[in-house]
Amino acid sequence: MFFLESYLENLMHLISSPKKMQELALSLKRKSKKISYVPTMGALHQGHLSLVKMAVRLGDLVVASIFVNPAQFGPKEDFKKYPRDLKKDKELLQKAGCDLIFAPSIKDIYPEGYLTYMEVEELSQKLEGASRPGHFKGVCTIVAKLFNLVQPDFAIFGQKDAQQAIIIKKMTEDLNFPVRIIVSPTVREKDGLACSSRNSYLYPEERTQAKVLYQALKLGEKLIKAGEKSPKKIVNKMRELIYKEKLARIDYIALIDTEKLESVKIIKGEILLSLAVKFGKTRLIDNLKLKAN
Ligand code: PAJ
Repeated sequence: MFFLESYLENLMHLISSPKKMQELALSLKRKSKKISYVPTMGALHQGHLSLVKMAVRLGDLVVASIFVNPAQFGPKEDFKKYPRDLKKDKELLQKAGCDLIFAPSIKDIYPEGYLTYMEVEELSQKLEGASRPGHFKGVCTIVAKLFNLVQPDFAIFGQKDAQQAIIIKKMTEDLNFPVRIIVSPTVREKDGLACSSRNSYLYPEERTQAKVLYQALKLGEKLIKAGEKSPKKIVNKMRELIYKEKLARIDYIALIDTEKLESVKIIKGEILLSLAVKFGKTRLIDNLKLKAN
């Protein structure tokens, strides 16, 4: 395939056709190239770029996709106003060492008459799934499609969206996708707020107060390290701290196991401390994975 060499020699190509992406991926595989892959919705920040840097270490060729996936947004959510800046994203990806961007159009991904959706049961109903019905059905559908198009050996996801990473791992395992899922640590701003494309929605005062999310997670961690065994007491103390910030509205604070995502009755072993808090119309999520005795 003559265009394969030119893609590999000239770094940073942008492909929008799903068919071309898949053809290229399959021809790379035939040449025994390992593809590492970072799916994104664009509006890239240091969190996304840390995944790309991880991808560079893992594969021979790094693909990142940019696709704001309508299927994972609820009818009242921010699909329309979700930030989009392809030119800037392209520059950032190139600097981080990405070789190829896949940025398909909505009509190519969901052509008229599209009918097939993917669901990981149970796990998708918890936490984010309970607050955002249908969200993970949309996420799993697009990720399964993207895996078929990009044919990755490694796919890198962020710990920032812990539930998403757990669900994608489960889908990959259940459906035997030949890809290794890697989960990369959360990248934070100086004051601890996890980098997120949605942080750009925050008004200055909301942004200042939003640092309380990480403070609350660290408080939870401190209590657990000090031997606190009652999830209820931990959640209550975190709640108190968060509500010192007048603009915060807690959606949930949860202490769950990392496999079934069920609330733990007593603090023991590996635990996910996870929360969702709204500031005005902006909903932020964050988490810490902890080990307790
Ligand atoms: P998006 O929100 O753009 O995130 C893309 C990837 O970046 C996800 O794996 C997410 O967990 C990771 N990420 C986001 N913020 C991060 C941070 N502060 N530190 C480390 N990693 C971070 O997640 C999605 O897009 C979509 O649901 C997608 C998987 C692309 C499917 O549409």
